Order: sequence, then structure tokens, then C-alpha cells
Amino acid sequence: MLFNKVDKIKLKKVHALINEIFQKPKQEFIFGESPITTGLAIYSGAEINSVIDSLLSGRLGLANSGRTFEKKFADYTNRDKCILVNSGSSANLLALDAIKVKYNLNGGEIITPACSFPTTVNPIIQLGFTPAFVDVDESLNISPKGILRAINSKTKGLLFSHTLGNPSDMGEIMSIAKRNKLFVIEDCCDAYGSKYNGKMCGSFGISSTYSFYPAHTITLGEGGAITTNNSELFKIIRSLRDWGRDCWCDTGVSNTCGRRFGYMLDGVNYDHKYIYSTIGYNMKPLELQAAMGLEQLKKLNYFCEIRKRNFNILTKEFQKFTKYFELPKIHPKAEPVFFGFPILIKDKRIDRTELVKFLNKKKIATRYLFGGNLTCQPAYKNIDYKVYQKLEYTDKIMRYLFWIGIHPGINEEIITYVVDSFSTYLGNKR
Ligand SMILES: Cc1ncc(COP(=O)(O)O)c(C=O)c1O
Repeated sequence: MLFNKVDKIKLKKVHALINEIFQKPKQEFIFGESPITTGLAIYSGAEINSVIDSLLSGRLGLANSGRTFEKKFADYTNRDKCILVNSGSSANLLALDAIKVKYNLNGGEIITPACSFPTTVNPIIQLGFTPAFVDVDESLNISPKGILRAINSKTKGLLFSHTLGNPSDMGEIMSIAKRNKLFVIEDCCDAYGSKYNGKMCGSFGISSTYSFYPAHTITLGEGGAITTNNSELFKIIRSLRDWGRDCWCDTGVSNTCGRRFGYMLDGVNYDHKYIYSTIGYNMKPLELQAAMGLEQLKKLNYFCEIRKRNFNILTKEFQKFTKYFELPKIHPKAEPVFFGFPILIKDKRIDRTELVKFLNKKKIATRYLFGGNLTCQPAYKNIDYKVYQKLEYTDKIMRYLFWIGIHPGINEEIITYVVDSFSTYLGNKR
């Protein structure tokens, strides 16, 4: 700690002041003026005080808070190990790179849905693999039938997200993967708290990834994580994250192995801290992010409950709009915590652009799903990819689907306003 006893008294006052600021009544919500966003970072004095304490500790690089967060997050996701990184995109890159290193892979095809977040797919390309794009089904997730169509002798594994928190058919997918000896990486960036067959999403594949960007269920400002039960993979991911070094000391710690200066490298007695065993990056987050995360973790179950409540209310309300819209299919074994409320337009008299413009004018923010069909995006037009089936549902989503927010900042009154806005729009269509 940088501060002494007197400073501690002052610090207590600072904490109290910060808490006081957050206890003030929230700004009044004005319908039609206040934005109803698709995501929201929700934090209070506790997070800010935790960050202040972390900064005052004098440790900027990952230390105690980092280690504690990793342990608690691994427990939450029902995994043995967690590695904090600086974003969900980095998590996907490191998760796949580690598999490449572990199995000494050199190219091959990796199956992924065409309707994906770009940085779920990009590591496949960046690491010299070929994406094999398959269709999604009515759950908006990778289609198991599509996977079967795409598997061939070059296929190495599967990398996909649980779209908007709706669990993929993990029973079927894991059985296909096992039969065909394929690895599975689950992108759980949008799937906090979602379960399949009573098990957490993210506890099925060899590794799983998470994002702590502000729009996500919990936030560290920016950040991400990889979880796994595989200790060899854990070591490789840590090495790749930390410049490629061989040493397994936590950041800021020295000589965990007790043989730090006893390593021989081509006849030279070397410092183990400076031996590199992978071609690494630096993708570490800051200690203060972990300090914020520790407070966010305490609220994670509550955040998930509010999301579930909001999703259920909207689902009930939208029963009156079934003529116009379709909601995603949920697998009978799935218990989703949705990240957003996806709406697929089925009445072709409704023009999506006109509707989202109407909603945005009412201050109800909307998003389309990821990049739609990625094969249509400029960045992917000229890359080497494979498609083994018509991307029929993906194209439907690209043209007719959008989603609205259900984050914990949205209450029942706001949902009534949102539903009324849809009624007004549809009333004008009759
Ligand atoms: C499914 C999915 N994967 C990956 C990411 C990337 O996460 P990040 O923004 O932390 O890089 C996101 C971001 O929103 C996402 O939704």
C-alpha cells in the first residue's frame, strides 16, 4: 500500500463521498427523450472505490485482484482455470492459438456460423485456418445439421457463440464433436448465466471465452477471459498472453519454480523469466479492471435475474404481435439468460429499416445481429472460406432480424413504453 494510517482515514472519507454520489436519486427517466440502450454498464460506488484502492495499492499489473477474479470467475463458470485478458476478441484469438500450439496444427477447416460476431471468426483466418461457414437455425445458433454437412477430412474443430445468450444445442454438438474428434471452443461473450441441461454454457468445450466490454452482462471497462479444465492449455494460454514467456510465475512474482537461474539454454545458464516457449502477445488487462470485476461479480446473478425477467415480460407481451414477428426457438434443455430481445419480422409488409428508424426516433435503440451473413461483408469477400450448404436462415436474419435491449437498467415501465411503441407502429400498418 502506498498510504499510511492517516491516509486511511482520508480514504474512508473518499469512499463515503463516492458512495454518497451514487445514493443521490437517479436522473428522471423521460419517455421519448431518455435513451433506451441495447446495453448499459451498471456500477456504483463499490466498483469505483475498489478501483481507487487498487490504484493506491501501487500495483498496476495483474496481482491479487486479478488472481482472485480468475479464481471466482472459474468457479462461477464451473471450470478449473480462468485467464484474464484485455478483451473478448483477444480471448477468442488466444483460445484458438493455444489449440494450434497444443496440437501442432498447420491449417485446416474450422466450422463456424456465417452469422457471427467478426472477432469470433477472425482468429480462424488470422491463425491460418479456413473458416467453414454453416447456417444457423431458428435458435439463431450454429445448426447441428449444418455442422454434419461441413465435416470432412480437413475439419479440425468448431468455434461458435451462444447467440445473444440462447444456448446452442450442446447435447447434439458435443456428440458430433466427439464422434469426429473435433475440438469445441464456446464463445460465451453474450451467454453469462445461460445453461444447457442444467450445466453452464462454457463448461462443455475444451475452452470458452468471455467479454467484459461495457455492453456485456458484467463489465471491467474492457476485458475478457478464457476458461478451461485443461492444465496444458492453461499454461499455453498464459504464455501466449504474457509475451510468450515460458515462466509460470504470476505477473509481479518471481521464482515460483525455485530454479529461476538454473535454466540452461544452448549451454548458457539463463533466467527462466526470459525464456520464451510460444510466439506470444501482450494481452493482459490491468489490476484495476480486475478490482472493478470483483465488485461486478457480486452482482452477476442479480443482473441475470433482471435480464430473465425483462425477456419473459417482453415474450409475453409479444404474443399479441405473433402475426408480425417471430421470436427465437429455445431448445427444450436450454435455460437462457438472453443478452437482447431478438425480433424476426415475418410480415413482409413491415420494412425493417422503417421500423428501426421509428423505434430509434422514440429513443429505443436497436441492433442487427452481428455482421449478418459475414460472407457478404466487405472484409470477407476475398478471403479463402468454405460454404457447404445454402445459408438460408442466415440470410433471413441478415434481412429481417433486429434486437432491442433487456439489460438491468430497463424496468417494467420502460418495457410498457417499448411495447406501446410497437403497438403504435403496427396500428399505423393495419
Ligand atoms: C459473441 C461475441 N464474441 C466476441 C465479442 C468481442 O468482445 P470484445 O468487444 O470484448 O472484444 C463480442 C462483443 O460484443 C461478442 O458479442
